[in-house]
Amino acid sequence: MSHLRFRYLRSSLVESVQSLLGLRDPLMPPRQLIDGVGGGDFKAVGQEFFRYFIEIGGLKPTGCVLDVGCGCGRMAVPLIHYLSEQGEYWGFDIVGSAIDWCQKKIAANDKRFHFQLADVYNKSYHPQGRHFASAYSFPYRDGFFDLAFLTSVFTNIFAKVQAVLASSTSFRTVRRAI
Ligand SMILES: C[S@@+](CC[C@H](N)C(=O)[O-])C[C@H]1O[C@@H](n2cnc3c(N)ncnc32)[C@H](O)[C@@H]1O
Repeated sequence: MSHLRFRYLRSSLVESVQSLLGLRDPLMPPRQLIDGVGGGDFKAVGQEFFRYFIEIGGLKPTGCVLDVGCGCGRMAVPLIHYLSEQGEYWGFDIVGSAIDWCQKKIAANDKRFHFQLADVYNKSYHPQGRHFASAYSFPYRDGFFDLAFLTSVFTNIFAKVQAVLASSTSFRTVRRAI
């Protein structure tokens, strides 16, 4: 058994026991999903960016926000206690297991939160994806969002696609992007 496989099995076992004993934060994804978004301290990173959304992005509790490449909800979790009844969060990603977790653990209990799967190609994250990022149009109407953000996503996309995205019609859906 490889070292990586052993590590995943061990952390899955520890997480299962913690869940059974009620010791695990229900808003903390499995380690395997956290490692998929770069590892590290899931809560601390989320909290740090949460401050940027408010201080730099001007996000209000009533705001409507788009999280492009939302992964396993690292940016969504801190917004649960910030957004008001009128606020809305929409996130999409190309990794099915991350979106499944967010739908079950966040959106299923909270109608302000929405997570969608995009079948977009990425060599590392979704090599069997059917569409190229450059051809993917965000499935939201124009001007729908007050704020859109991409955290640690452009680093995973080819420079050519970054340029296309930056000038893309996708941003027609957004009033402000950081
Ligand atoms: C390093 S992770 C960051 C995830 C999340 N933004 C966060 O900060 O926790 C990069 C994410 O970008 C997603 N991603 C890569 N290419 C994408 C694309 N073309 N469209 C949407 N998401 C993409 C990956 O699936 C992965 O979840």
